[in-house]
Amino acid sequence: MTSGRLEGKLAIVTGAAKGAGAASATLFAREGAEVVLVDIDDVRGEAVAHTLTAEGLTARYLHCDVAREDEIRALAATVVAEHRAPDVLFNHAGTVEVRKLIDTSLDDWERQLRINVTSMFVMSREFLPPMIAAGGGVILNTSSISGFTVAPLEAVYCVSKGAILQLTRSIAIEYREDGIRCNAICPGFMRTDHGLKELADLQSHGDPISLDAVAQTQGRMCEPEEFASVALNLVSDETSFINGASVVVDNGSTVIT
Ligand SMILES: NC(=O)c1ccc[n+]([C@@H]2O[C@H](COP(=O)([O-])OP(=O)(O)OC[C@H]3O[C@@H](n4cnc5c(N)ncnc54)[C@H](O)[C@@H]3O)[C@@H](O)[C@H]2O)c1
Repeated sequence: MTSGRLEGKLAIVTGAAKGAGAASATLFAREGAEVVLVDIDDVRGEAVAHTLTAEGLTARYLHCDVAREDEIRALAATVVAEHRAPDVLFNHAGTVEVRKLIDTSLDDWERQLRINVTSMFVMSREFLPPMIAAGGGVILNTSSISGFTVAPLEAVYCVSKGAILQLTRSIAIEYREDGIRCNAICPGFMRTDHGLKELADLQSHGDPISLDAVAQTQGRMCEPEEFASVALNLVSDETSFINGASVVVDNGSTVIT
């Protein structure tokens, strides 16, 4: 059952082929949004879109590598020409590479920053003009608790997630009078391929992290649907006065001593 909290809205979700992006796109569609799912995993992305349309919902998958400016430009042109300006832009796609700082090449550094945060700058730059011309909208960026805490072996990831918070605040202030809200969502460990691979990669580097250790700090893994419900709240009109915020979804892990 849905209450239509996004009825009449057009929502773009990146990283929507699986995990928390797919859960968010699914919830947005069930709440009445017309959803454009964006990813590089075409098989899974098409499958999620197909599942949604089979439910009678409005969804479409479009390929776009968010690390590539040319593909983002093409995505924006397609969305505006074949749909309209989005009401909701959810920049969720991202990746984590676990590596010691001294083993990190300049290519490693630039690749992760490009996928995680340069992508959000380019997406916002390309979609803001049509959103503003249409009267405004909401941008939501997926950061992480790693945006303000740090862990060994994840320097580049933490830098990228911290940069997302400042990009988010900058957009919130610069475009507030144009009807744009921009917020960041900061999850702890989630039960997705990203989260489980991150744990395995840390362990393979000798880090003592484990599901038990995660349970001690955040109780348990966050389910993708729990993340999606917070994302829905932040992109809906119910949070019309939340702007420039970093909303933590971690079951208290960053406040426990
Ligand atoms: N899972 C966690 O524990 C956790 C914790 C904090 C933050 N996050 C953030 O959540 C996001 C990842 O989401 P998830 O946990 O749902 O992971 P996931 O692995 O289930 O999904 C990530 C999706 O992003 C897509 N993607 C990766 N690179 C892309 C690119 N260049 N262009 C387009 N799509 C791309 C993948 O194909 C995949 O479908 C990232 O921004 C990550 O930093 C995850």
